[in-house]
Amino acid sequence: MDKQILKDTIKQVFSNGKGILAMDESNPTCNKRFAANGIPETEEMRRKYRQLIVSTPGLNESIGGAILSDETIRQKTDDGQPMADLLTHAGIIPGIKVDMSTTSLSGFPNEKITEGLDGLRERLAEYKKVGARFAKWRAVITIGNDIPTRACIKANVNALTMYATLCQEADIVPIVEPEILMDGNHSMQRCYEVTEEVLKTLFYHLYEFKVDFEGMILKPNMVIAGKESEERNSVDAVAQATANCLLASVPATVPAIAFLSGGQSPQKACEHLNAINKNFKDQLPWIVAFSFARAIQQPCLDAWKGRDSNIEFAQKLLYHRAKLSTVARLGTYNSKMEDLR
Ligand code: G3H
Repeated sequence: MDKQILKDTIKQVFSNGKGILAMDESNPTCNKRFAANGIPETEEMRRKYRQLIVSTPGLNESIGGAILSDETIRQKTDDGQPMADLLTHAGIIPGIKVDMSTTSLSGFPNEKITEGLDGLRERLAEYKKVGARFAKWRAVITIGNDIPTRACIKANVNALTMYATLCQEADIVPIVEPEILMDGNHSMQRCYEVTEEVLKTLFYHLYEFKVDFEGMILKPNMVIAGKESEERNSVDAVAQATANCLLASVPATVPAIAFLSGGQSPQKACEHLNAINKNFKDQLPWIVAFSFARAIQQPCLDAWKGRDSNIEFAQKLLYHRAKLSTVARLGTYNSKMEDLR
C-alpha cells in the first residue's frame, strides 16, 4: 500500500469544494428507473444515458470523482472513447462499484448481506488498468422490528473491511458505505442509534484489520426518520443528529465523509448537507461532502426520457444539481438557488 497515492486521490476528488457523482446503479436498478420513465431497458440505452452524464459540459466544476458500474467502465462513447477516459480527461477521477449487490442473509429474515469478495483482488487489478483509482462497496442495513441483528451488522462490517483491505493493497481508495435504509416508519432517534452502532462496529473492525483510516472515504446515510414515519424533523434537527452521530463514531483521521442521498428529494439532500456544513463547520474534523446518485441524477433522467432532443436540457439539470450539491458542501446553499435560469 502506498499511503501517499491514496491521500493524493482523496485530495483530488474533493478539491475546490467538489464531490462524487454516483452513477453506478446496477443494471436492474437502472432498468427500474428507466421503466418509470418509459425508457427501453437495454444495454444500449444505459450506454447512451451514461454518455449523456459523462459528456455534460462543466460537470468537472463540481464533480471530482464518478463511480461507474462494471458495465459502464467497459463501455465507449459514440466516438469510441472509453467512458473512463472521457472522465479522466475532464479531471474527474473514475471509480468503480465492486460489490456484486445484496442477497438474503441466511437465517436472518429481512436482512441482507453484500456479496463480491471472491476474485476481488484480481478484479481490482483489472479495474486499475482501465483507470479506476477508487472503489465502492455498499452494505445495506434495514431497520425494523428486532432488526438489525448483531449478526447482520457484524457480517456486513466484515465484508466491508475485507474489501477495504484489498483496495488499499492495490492503491485504490475504498469508499466504505454502510447504508442504513430510510425504508420503514422508525424515528430519527432509532436511526441515530443504529447508525452509531454500525459505525462504531465498522471502525473497530477496520482498525483490527489495519485499514489506513487516512486512505479511505466513508459514505454514510444521514440520520433521518424512516420514509413511512409521521415524525417531521427540521433541517437543523437532522443536521444536528447527523453531526452528533458522526462525531461520536468516526475517527478524526478519516479525511472525508461523502453522504449518500438515500431517497431524499434532491432539495432536501442539499438542505441537510448545507446545514451540517454551515452549523457545525468549526466542529467537524473531516471534509463533509456528497456522493449522491438520485439527488443529482433524478431530474436529469426524468427530463431525458430516452430522447436525443432532450439531452441538452437534461444535461443542464444535471449540471445544476451537481453545482447545488457543491454549494451545499461549502455551507452556502439557499433554496432560491433551486431556480434554474
Ligand atoms: O450506493 C448508493 C448510491 O451510490 C447512492 O445513491 O444517493 O441515490 O442514495 P443515492
